[in-house]
Amino acid sequence: MPARFDMNAVTATITGSVAVITVDNPPVHALSTPVRSGLIAAVRAVEMDPALQGSVIATAGRTFIAGADIGEMDRPLGEPQLPAVIAAITACSKPLVAALHGSVLGGGLEIALACRARLAEPGTSFGFPEVKIGLIPGASGTQRLLRLTNFDTAVRIVTGGKPVTAIEALRLGLIDQIVDGPVLQAAIDLIASGRAANAQVFPTSLALSEREAARPNPETLEALRAEVTKAARGQRAPLAALALMEATASLPFAEGLAEERAAFLQLRASREAKALRRLFLAERNAGRSPELQGVKPLAIGTLGVVGAGLMGCGIAFAALNAGLRVVLAESSSEAMERGRGRMAELFEAAIQSRRLTSARAAELEAALAITTDFALFRGCDAVIEAVFEDLAVKHEVFAKLEAVVRPDCMLATNTSYLDLDAIAAGLKEPSRFLGLHFFSPAHVMRLLEVVRGAKTSPPVLATGVALGRKLGKIPVITGVCEGFCGNRILKAYRIVAETMVEEGAAPEVVDGAMTDFGFPMGPFAVQDMAGIEIAYANRKLKPALAADGRRLGLVELLVEAGRLGRKNGKGWYAYPEGARQGQPDPDVTALIHADAARRDIPQKTFSQATIREALLAAMRAEGRAILDEGIVARAEDIDLVMVHGYGFPAHKGGPMFGTA
Ligand code: NAI
Repeated sequence: MPARFDMNAVTATITGSVAVITVDNPPVHALSTPVRSGLIAAVRAVEMDPALQGSVIATAGRTFIAGADIGEMDRPLGEPQLPAVIAAITACSKPLVAALHGSVLGGGLEIALACRARLAEPGTSFGFPEVKIGLIPGASGTQRLLRLTNFDTAVRIVTGGKPVTAIEALRLGLIDQIVDGPVLQAAIDLIASGRAANAQVFPTSLALSEREAARPNPETLEALRAEVTKAARGQRAPLAALALMEATASLPFAEGLAEERAAFLQLRASREAKALRRLFLAERNAGRSPELQGVKPLAIGTLGVVGAGLMGCGIAFAALNAGLRVVLAESSSEAMERGRGRMAELFEAAIQSRRLTSARAAELEAALAITTDFALFRGCDAVIEAVFEDLAVKHEVFAKLEAVVRPDCMLATNTSYLDLDAIAAGLKEPSRFLGLHFFSPAHVMRLLEVVRGAKTSPPVLATGVALGRKLGKIPVITGVCEGFCGNRILKAYRIVAETMVEEGAAPEVVDGAMTDFGFPMGPFAVQDMAGIEIAYANRKLKPALAADGRRLGLVELLVEAGRLGRKNGKGWYAYPEGARQGQPDPDVTALIHADAARRDIPQKTFSQATIREALLAAMRAEGRAILDEGIVARAEDIDLVMVHGYGFPAHKGGPMFGTA
């Protein structure tokens, strides 16, 4: 049997009478064309070689095959396609055993399920994440799943896209054994001993395909459909998966396969899949920039955070979870104690929701120092400031920091709206300074705007990006302008939303247009959540913006009427005790009408489509300006910001998708 197939994408070694076929396409062994053709050739070679009893399918490195090559998907399908690989595996008369570790996802799981047996290391995870890129499994995944587990479970695995653990996979029958020792050797032994060939223990794929598929339970099917529909939030792929699995549950395997492939191909060409693929690739590219080519980031082991408020604690918690040591400083011992309480709540919530074990939480807490003593920042590789949004306070903090930190320590601000270069102007060494704009809650939200100041040096910018990655964030590089990328676009569409309300569209109608489009909340509900007084204060700070009184009227009227948002039970909506959602409030309607009458604003009626188009157009126009001014380099980056920071529905691609 040859040792290499298709230019090394797949290799084979022989141990006694067993071949080990190794897929080698780092980093995640995606199923690129050479991998697919190499696998077919290798499996055929095993079949042809009379000295071989069977073969293991394995991978080198940190994971098994983690799915398709998404970069290939915008091109026409390359031959051989994945179903041909699966067909070659199932046609092999000798037992093929999958030796699994890391992530076994998408096409990787389809390959594993087509093998005669599956052995996995304890930490392995298994899943069909295809819906996340607008697809469903397209090479027997749904059909094999329906023959291994019950209907509801199979549907949830495919429509949810979330991976399951090895223990869960064993329980569901997706794998045959969890192996504590070296999994590769166990797979070799299984074949060499002849046990893998025992069809009683490990049914052939023919036997599996002859099984009947799990049928939907008529009593729970509608509840399942409602669950999937709700979670899909207007996305097509999960519903397509459910429809397919429902329709094929009563079909023979071969017919089910054909239906699955047809549905897959249809989705692959859809706008939704294109949008999600583009975001997937944009996420991978985030933070890459020609100016950073070859620039080495500084190593960050200990992070300082100034201000143990809402944001500072979230940032500190994210950093601890990423394995950093953290120094968190406050201005007074009372504020420090409040910060300590906040950190304890974050740990407690993580333990309650099982994201951390108590033991791990204790380890992380041991890596945290809460203090009022800025001298502790001397040991930090970077310090992020998250104190009050006030230029004078920020200047004072950075002056204190510069007096204690090492010369190579990176300094960052989490400011939302202040002029980053005005903050930098107070620094002795502005080249080590940049913006790291987190989103609230900072330990949850994945977006991070990495803001390049006028004097930020490339290594410092690269360090901001690398730190973001380390914290599990999506680091988008932006330049300095008011609100950076995200808040600037938010402001642009809020102005349009407010104008429409002044002209007769009720806040709930505007919000409804956006939630129907796929946003989790409309602009007014969001503003109620954040607190209307933030916009109010901002406008007061910048009187130039208030020159057009017409635009700024409502926010001011609301705040001056004591309506701050959710926090005091009334804002654009009313929030009676216990209400989970805001309710339209006749007082607000009256206030809006009186204002319109006073200012003589002609009233109109707006259709949902008009509202939606106007708001999307406002986002696009602001996005275009941001690109033209060079604040952000790529349209995809703007879409990442809006999807991951502002709830723009991912399956719609972002405001810039399709605008070329
Ligand atoms: P916060 O009011 O919850 O926390 C600020 C903390 O800074 C307080 O605990 C205060 O005691 C402390 N502080 C004030 N002066 C200090 C000093 N001289 N030394 C040490 N600590 C000091 O405010 P929040 O919401 O955490 O905001 C902090 C920064 O993050 C602001 O610049 C804000 O614009 C920005 N930001 C806020 C977001 C949000 O959603 N709240 C989102 C993104 C950025």
